[in-house]
Amino acid sequence: MSSSNLDVSDYSADSTSSQTKRKRILVVGGTGQTGKHVVLQLLQRRHNVRAIVRSKERLYNQLDTVLPDSASNIHIVGRLQTTEASIHAMPQEELEKIVDGCDAVVVCLGHNLNFRGLFLPPRRLVTDSVQKLCSAIDVVNSNALEGKKPPTKMIVMGSDGVADPLGGDDRRKLSERVTLSLLSRLLIPHADNEAAASYMSSVSSVVPTSRMEWLVLRPTDLVNGSATKYDMFDKPTKGLFDGTKGGKTTRATVAQCMIDFVLTDELWESWKGKFPVVHDSMGGDVIVK
Ligand SMILES: NC(=O)c1ccc[n+]([C@@H]2O[C@H](COP(=O)([O-])OP(=O)(O)OC[C@H]3O[C@@H](n4cnc5c(N)ncnc54)[C@H](OP(=O)(O)O)[C@@H]3O)[C@@H](O)[C@H]2O)c1
Repeated sequence: MSSSNLDVSDYSADSTSSQTKRKRILVVGGTGQTGKHVVLQLLQRRHNVRAIVRSKERLYNQLDTVLPDSASNIHIVGRLQTTEASIHAMPQEELEKIVDGCDAVVVCLGHNLNFRGLFLPPRRLVTDSVQKLCSAIDVVNSNALEGKKPPTKMIVMGSDGVADPLGGDDRRKLSERVTLSLLSRLLIPHADNEAAASYMSSVSSVVPTSRMEWLVLRPTDLVNGSATKYDMFDKPTKGLFDGTKGGKTTRATVAQCMIDFVLTDELWESWKGKFPVVHDSMGGDVIVK
């Protein structure tokens, strides 16, 4: 495990009042197709980022795929603190140290789409990692002076193929229910995302909301491209087999949306404790290239 740290904490150039204070955000899964956008967009907006990654080199390479030479730009990566570890196997005390001082935790973990990622352990990568993170937040914030620290925001990336465990979704067609039931049994990543959503739906009975608030963001079909304006729904609005014609969202938009949740308290208040679904707005303007 290794880490590099350039700690800068003052105020960012963001304009709205709830966004003016520079935040510190832990991103897990930052080397992924979505996580890299979260890391880069946060850094570009001059927030401090902690990232737990299995390979710092891979993280830097991924940042460069979004914005060439960003990984060698001290104005961007100067606020990035990386820890090389597999979060799944990380000692809990190490995790607590990394969580300590963070305003929010963003989880973009997912199983790699190869034989190892699909069929071999850790089968509960997302669920176990989320559980560890919630415990770490609980411990760290229970040590903080009561009332002095706002609850840490925990955002987990899921999918609109995963049902709201609180029962808020419309009943799907029989063919979709059969397919999803098969996926739960046969596909470890899908079962893991379901288990993680289920865990989050009842986490408030384990971690008091005075210490942690949460939401699970469920993107619809993911595509690559620039971030655009987006629409948020309280449940899936399209069928399982509709494809991108029923709605899609870019990974950069998903990143933007998660960052908006971190920075905009009004938005957070509307959606915390829920499982919002995000789509790119039809014909929406590009907001981040
Ligand atoms: N709504 C949709 O249509 C949709 C589509 C795709 C995904 N999703 C969900 O969204 C989430 C993120 O998707 P994505 O496509 O951005 O993910 P991704 O590109 O596959 O990235 C996965 C991330 O998880 C990390 N990871 C994988 N196995 C790990 C392990 N054993 N230990 C530690 N880290 C590990 C990877 O790190 P390394 O770089 O080290 O491997 C990477 O950072 C997933 O949960 C996925 O199920 C939703």
